[in-house]
Amino acid sequence: MESLQVGVIGYGYWGPNLVRNLMACPLTAVAGVCELSAARRAAAGAAVPGVPILETVDELLDRPLDAVAVATPVTTHYALVRRCLEAGKDVLVEKPLAANVADAQALADLADRLGRVLMVDHTYVFSNAVRRIRQLVQAGELGDIYYVDSDRINLGLFQSDINVIWDLAPHDLSIADYVLGLQPRSISGWGCAHADPLIEDIAYVNVDYSDRLMANFHVSWLSPVKVRRMILTGSRKSLIFDELNTSEPVKVYDRGIKVSETTEDLRRFRVGYRTGDMWSPHVEPGEALRSMVAHFAECVRERCEPVSDGRMGVRVVRLLEAATRSTRAHGRRALLSQMDNLYV
Ligand SMILES: NC(=O)c1ccc[n+]([C@@H]2O[C@H](COP(=O)([O-])OP(=O)(O)OC[C@H]3O[C@@H](n4cnc5c(N)ncnc54)[C@H](O)[C@@H]3O)[C@@H](O)[C@H]2O)c1
Repeated sequence: MESLQVGVIGYGYWGPNLVRNLMACPLTAVAGVCELSAARRAAAGAAVPGVPILETVDELLDRPLDAVAVATPVTTHYALVRRCLEAGKDVLVEKPLAANVADAQALADLADRLGRVLMVDHTYVFSNAVRRIRQLVQAGELGDIYYVDSDRINLGLFQSDINVIWDLAPHDLSIADYVLGLQPRSISGWGCAHADPLIEDIAYVNVDYSDRLMANFHVSWLSPVKVRRMILTGSRKSLIFDELNTSEPVKVYDRGIKVSETTEDLRRFRVGYRTGDMWSPHVEPGEALRSMVAHFAECVRERCEPVSDGRMGVRVVRLLEAATRSTRAHGRRALLSQMDNLYV
């Protein structure tokens, strides 16, 4: 079967990872790389000899392509994705889908109207660890989920067009969307800026899913150490996802509280503790980006909706926008009631 011919726009920090995976995946081939910067074009030419390296999107779209992958800064996504969709291409775009909800929604609608595949690279949704976590949660292994708590912190790459919420929280918000499958009721953000007064470099994002389920995401470019850890605690068990522990990224703990249901105990508010075993479920090794690229190729070939489709892209952008607005209003909660139509 012919491989999908994909043109890549943007060969900065992340573009090379996409190019490497598109070249390694048996379903895809890189038909050209387009990059504005001469220095980055030279780097692409050295890394992928034989692949046409171009300066403009026009030149790229003039070539025989089936699809385009966009790996440029977030503020450029709307114009570039729209251009490629209108040129009749299926599009894979880096997270987040666009720089505001209106643009994200317009792209999702345009892809629907034109019958094109639009997929957002929410990479973690394709990680074997996150897929395993979703299976465990959906099989009821943890019971009712009480809370999700994550740290995604390090001395990060400061961005000039987006704050740390837009840079890092798409990962946590897409994991939560995929694993929980729930519609948040409200969100609040708390953060501050140190290097550039307009760009928050540390933030805490709190998402409320129900009276008994909340999530807290800590994102930072200012931490001296790198931490990538998410805890999900449920009524039966808890789970810790530590991405930096490559041999045992997921650990399930049979530890928690046990609330007695007898009237006498309830009156005295009797809470017991359960301290059982910890086990680490097997997680297949493999690069998430490789699975992501293969999924895109399959969706293009079969003309089906990707897991991280335009709608998921819009849901994530809606949360990013609301969290940033809340952060700039000193944490005032933003209600998310108009999100219903995105979950049908
Ligand atoms: N999935 C992930 O885990 C992950 C990780 C890092 C970055 N990203 C995403 O990747 C995207 C790019 O981030 P980055 O860190 O690589 O940015 P970057 O600034 O390092 O690279 C972007 C490149 O795009 C080029 N570019 C910009 N406009 C262009 C145009 N019109 N035509 C051709 N080239 C153009 C720039 O010259 C630059 O080299 C962002 O959306 C970011 O959020 C995703």
